[in-house]
Amino acid sequence: MPAYAIIGGQWGDEGKGKVVDYLARDMHIVARYSGGNNAGHTVMNEKGQFAFHLVPSGIFWPQVTCVIGNGVVVDPDVLLNEIEGLQKVGVDVHRLQVSDRAHLIMPYHILLDRLEEEARGHRAIGTTGKGVGPAYEDKAGRRGIRLGDLLDLEALLPRLKAILDYKNRIITGVYGGRPFTLEEVYERCRGWAERLRPFIAPVEITVRQALAQGQRILLEGAQGSLLDLDHGTYPYVTSSYPTVGGACIGLGLPPSAVQGVLGVFKAYTTRVGGGPLPTELTDATGDAIRERAWEYGTTTGRPRRCGWFDAVAARYSVMVNGVNMAVLTRLDVLDGFHPVRICTAYRLNGKVVEHFPSSAALLAKCTPVYEDLPGWDRPTAGLTRWDDLPPQAQRYAKRLEELLGCPLALISTGPHRHETIEIRRIN
Ligand code: IMP
Repeated sequence: MPAYAIIGGQWGDEGKGKVVDYLARDMHIVARYSGGNNAGHTVMNEKGQFAFHLVPSGIFWPQVTCVIGNGVVVDPDVLLNEIEGLQKVGVDVHRLQVSDRAHLIMPYHILLDRLEEEARGHRAIGTTGKGVGPAYEDKAGRRGIRLGDLLDLEALLPRLKAILDYKNRIITGVYGGRPFTLEEVYERCRGWAERLRPFIAPVEITVRQALAQGQRILLEGAQGSLLDLDHGTYPYVTSSYPTVGGACIGLGLPPSAVQGVLGVFKAYTTRVGGGPLPTELTDATGDAIRERAWEYGTTTGRPRRCGWFDAVAARYSVMVNGVNMAVLTRLDVLDGFHPVRICTAYRLNGKVVEHFPSSAALLAKCTPVYEDLPGWDRPTAGLTRWDDLPPQAQRYAKRLEELLGCPLALISTGPHRHETIEIRRIN
């Protein structure tokens, strides 16, 4: 009963959407298990270019059932918008299921996300402002509203009233914001219930049945391991678990079902929002990477901070996820850079360290120790065979493989499905 996890190995935006779309051709189920519409997964195919925030990137393969697990927080308006967009281009959306246990991002979560960020001032996390953090807070605080609650609005009403009273007291008392009326929020719930009802399902059963039948499941990670609530650069993290453990919790999946963990790593590093980034390039090289790769957020449009590949951070991701195969993306962005640099260790308080520190404060004090490799001039964009890569690009990829300590399965050389070098089959 094989499930394969696609995990972001850095700070998100590694190009997971393209990888999921590529691998989904051999899958029966593609499942999102964490995060919300703070994620943005880009897929390009014959139907156009799509930026998904919630719908799993496998939706374009007709044999695939797409599942949004209980670990995801769902903004119903965003989900409905994506469903409509897919219907417009003729995609069958009956293959989409959303867990009745998944929590809703409510309008007050979006407002509170903004108010809390403003209140943080220069310590702002740089959240995507989509209400994701406040929704997970309410989940843990047992004040959350789940998609399943939309199926019994009568039972929801008194709970919603109590929750809204509490939220309004915070909005007005702490932040001086505008309170929500029960009527406006309840009306929105009614509208969502009507339109989302056909998609709401106990998805853990779908997943277990698929496993029992020996079907193949792809677990689509969102964000990156270094944004993980526990394993990331706390407090500059998201509020969920992008690491592989999150997949088990976020779908009701037994850990023994996970056969392969594919870590997706961009050939360089990016980060969006606040928090330390040891290899950050604030010079012309960083700008050149950003412009060539169009490193601007899919969700917020913000410029991403760019830097060289950080093997200390990447190795840590390999460790906490048990990554057993790596995927290298956007290698073509480094075409023409001389040299290409890899951070192999940090200098911290006068000592060379090879482990990733546990706090953002410590990481902020780390400076990179670089290893320089010769660059290459011949373009690698669109290549589909390992042998066609310039020898220097092969050497770079091999060195990353060595530093990660796990074999490379795929190299992505462009946004389209076919722009992929398959080194090993995923099985
Ligand atoms: P939140 O998830 O919106 O609360 O944002 C918390 C941090 O995670 C911020 O630094 C965001 O920029 C970052 N973040 C959240 N989702 C993504 C993503 O999909 N890609 C990259 N960064 C993200």
